[in-house]
Amino acid sequence: MRDQNDRTAQRMSITADRLLLFGATGDLAQRMLLPSLCALHSDGLLSPDLRIIGTARSEMTTAEYRDFAREALEKYLPDHRRGGVAEFLNRLSYIAVDATTPEGYDTLAEEVGSYDKGLAIFLSTAPSLFEPTIDGLVHAGLTKGNVRIGLEKPLGTDLASSEEINDAVAKAFSEDRIFRIDHYLGKETVQNLLALRFANLILEPVWNAKYIEHVQITVGETVGLESRVAYYDDSGALRDMVQNHMLQLLALVAMEPPTSFDATAVRDEKVKVLRALRPISKEESVTGQYRAGAVDGTSVPGYDEELGKDSDTETFVALKAHVDNWRWKGVPFYMRTGKRLPERVTEIVVQFRCIPHSIFEGRGATTQPNRLVIGIQPEENVQLSMMAKVPGLDREGIRLRQIPLDIAMPDAFTGSVRRIAYERLLLDLVEGDQTLFVRRDEVEAQWEWIDAIRDLWTQEDITPKPYGAGTWGPSAAIALTERDGVTWHDE
Ligand code: BG6
Repeated sequence: MRDQNDRTAQRMSITADRLLLFGATGDLAQRMLLPSLCALHSDGLLSPDLRIIGTARSEMTTAEYRDFAREALEKYLPDHRRGGVAEFLNRLSYIAVDATTPEGYDTLAEEVGSYDKGLAIFLSTAPSLFEPTIDGLVHAGLTKGNVRIGLEKPLGTDLASSEEINDAVAKAFSEDRIFRIDHYLGKETVQNLLALRFANLILEPVWNAKYIEHVQITVGETVGLESRVAYYDDSGALRDMVQNHMLQLLALVAMEPPTSFDATAVRDEKVKVLRALRPISKEESVTGQYRAGAVDGTSVPGYDEELGKDSDTETFVALKAHVDNWRWKGVPFYMRTGKRLPERVTEIVVQFRCIPHSIFEGRGATTQPNRLVIGIQPEENVQLSMMAKVPGLDREGIRLRQIPLDIAMPDAFTGSVRRIAYERLLLDLVEGDQTLFVRRDEVEAQWEWIDAIRDLWTQEDITPKPYGAGTWGPSAAIALTERDGVTWHDE
């Protein structure tokens, strides 16, 4: 109890009283940041003295920004969470800044005013504006000891550019004041992975190469390019999804138990996994790009048609990864992600090995190995498949069948609020808890592995294979696992 009180007191002492949002008129702000902050406000989770200052290039008065925010909330915040919109809007002010000139930052500093408890800055701007923004903040004295900074992706396009950004930020902020966002870590079910692994006794003893045959991580999306043509075509699925979200999922599945649930302990263990990733070989990667097809019964154009030109950017990638350490020796981690796939689904499948000896074989019954499926979205559930006997007198032999032990999270926790990932992350940024943010060494280990894959694609002249929209990627993705006698978990 005393420990709990100490933690609460510590949090109160570092909770910022100013939040400065760069990119305040952008898509992320409208769809995620403003709705998340408003929901936190309505639930009484923001301190009464927290003022939120929005900034972007567009000229707008505070009154106009509040109207802009109201519209975004009407569009993106569910009705039942719109309790305190009017009051929330009163927390907002706005000031236009040209992020490329130092003078703008003086005006910005005036608008921010004094912040006794601390200032949290959230940067969601084009990567090219990172450095000038940091310089501007330094110029205006907005980087002092009680200022922390949240950085939204993309943090670079490869290891070198990511180091450059990290160096620029490090000149003004120490690592314990830098909060790199990977919004997957804000998702409740992703955090639940840690609870599942480390708050239960029964999984950990079998969570290793002796008992696990392989792991599958799938992040499928039904959407196509959306409105992000330029960004996406420069990025591609590997850098957009694997470099960050999927590698974080892999790290959480594969990490050793941390000594405690705190920022240093958790991130120390994740980075060890990321560094143990074996470079991918030519046969271990498949890339694809969607062509016209149908998703959910609706016809959709191909990537090149949406883009208006030919492109070599991959909209699908499947990989066979290995974590070269004692625990995971010989266990493949199959990963795949893509746009315009048949379903929006994020899930992790842990396939256990066969039992060493079946006592039922002589009685005609076959057994299948256990499988744990962790559904992250849209369904939040955990399902363990187990063998059970089919009821009957067994006169023609024993029949066994695989049945699921099912935990549907929303049913198990009725009454708990399902929060947007950014609610958790913005609150942690304001309160100064880094556990769910990515540390520099993690991002750099992620880039190192990804860069090697891109180099391989260039050396081997690997270009994306076409796949029809509404299918699970090119047939080579199926061959990637089938070669090993493994089937993707598609049902
Ligand atoms: C973003 C990617 O980081 O994650 C997008 O840039 C992708 O391309 C999105 O659509 C997926 O996030 P979520 O939370 O919808 O799975």
